[in-house]
Amino acid sequence: MPAAAVIGLQWGDEGKGKVIDALARDSKLVVRYQGGANAGHTVHANGEKFVFHLVPTGALWPGVTSVIGPGVVVDAPGLLGELDELKARGVRLEGRLVLAERAHVVFPYHKALDEAREASRGKDSSRLGTTKRGIGPCYADKASRTGIRVIDLYDEQRFSDLLRRNLDEKNAILKHLYGRAPLEFDPIREQYSETASRLRPYVGDSCSLVQGALEHDERVLFEGAQGAMLDLDHGTYPYVTSSSTLTDGISSGAGVPPTALGRALGVLKAYTTRVGDGPFPTEIPGEQGQKLREAGGEYGATTGRPRRTGWLDVVQLRYAARLSGTDGLVLTKLDVLSGMTPIKVCVAYEVKGTRLATVPADPSVLEAVTPVYEELPGFEGALDPTDYDRFPKAARDYVAYIERALGVPVSFVSTGPARDAFIRRGPSVWS
Ligand code: GDP
Ligand code: IMO
Ligand code: MG
Repeated sequence: MPAAAVIGLQWGDEGKGKVIDALARDSKLVVRYQGGANAGHTVHANGEKFVFHLVPTGALWPGVTSVIGPGVVVDAPGLLGELDELKARGVRLEGRLVLAERAHVVFPYHKALDEAREASRGKDSSRLGTTKRGIGPCYADKASRTGIRVIDLYDEQRFSDLLRRNLDEKNAILKHLYGRAPLEFDPIREQYSETASRLRPYVGDSCSLVQGALEHDERVLFEGAQGAMLDLDHGTYPYVTSSSTLTDGISSGAGVPPTALGRALGVLKAYTTRVGDGPFPTEIPGEQGQKLREAGGEYGATTGRPRRTGWLDVVQLRYAARLSGTDGLVLTKLDVLSGMTPIKVCVAYEVKGTRLATVPADPSVLEAVTPVYEELPGFEGALDPTDYDRFPKAARDYVAYIERALGVPVSFVSTGPARDAFIRRGPSVWS
């Protein structure tokens, strides 16, 4: 099976970066297909920590070609900065990174709008808690057919015209609606023209590359960003991101037919986190939530914000696994639960005396649900990083519980941030 997807099954930050890095070792291509620099995918390798935002996470393996597909929104100067930083650390991507010509570009006015809109919402319930990376406004321009694509940066006249038109419109909104200073045309044009010329060697027809690799039975890994509950259509709207974070986003976002997808691996933490606003039924308030945050190092890889923490939510996970066609689970951060007893798992939602079998569409209903918990025995001590059979029984029982609850096998278990703290339980992803 030449293609596999790795997606997040919760609200992002499940440990996808670590999983993708581990699986990329045997891959030919690693392909980002949605999202942008809102992502922060962490890898600990050879005693160093790397956080990937736009560069696909397989980049540390010299045999991997990284692909940024047309469904990604690209902060071009940010990408260049990431490439420079990787180069300074000995990771060179010349000749093995392809940026889609059709990908849309994030501009300073997208970030300014994102920021101004969030600020205008204050702390009321309409604030989303975005990463302020301009993601929503950039995807909105794409859908409005006013966006600027990578390919447009290489036609001087077209780029200038598009930038002028966009800037006039955005400046009017920034100034008159939000009372912000307008952005200047020349510095943006210059910065982006210069950035474009430095990115030129990487720009190409990424879709043909991925299609060709699949036709030749080469191993292609699709790297999801964010998580199922942040999906634009199926997540906890409006507290979501602006792209399709599930497997259905792969087809349009990478330019491959839906039938091309082989395995779909869903990554989940042994508990739940969410960064940003919006309903979170199993959130643990107060000191206990803080304890879990510290134990798991739950601070945003992109924004540094403290992540909200909560218990595992089977209702939410079943919803996500069904939507994405997940056929294997990757359970991360099981080590973090060591010493926490009992371990609680949400098995149903109750609202006004009624049990809900799945995630309700109405955010105010989801906000109001009372989680119904089952309690499982906890475990103590460190988990063996390589030998599953040496895990404490209660830890193995927790894994078995998750498999039963979701009806999907746990194919991998991660027991620490390091690359090799990763145990395969089933057949290879590629078999
Ligand atoms: P992503 O966005 O899904 O790639 O996840 P992030 O990188 O934002 O956050 C996951 C965090 O957990 C990172 O700091 C990882 O280094 C760390 N991590 C990943 N897997 C494990 C694990 O099994 N145990 C522990 N303790 N940390 C892990
Ligand atoms: P990775 O790939 C966690 C959240 C933001 C906010 C909402 C909308 O590292 O898992 P946006 O800036 O996308 O418009 O913000 O989505 N969010 C993430 N949360 N991990 C991420 O990425 C996220 N990317 C966006 O916090 O709630
Ligand atoms: Mg992250």
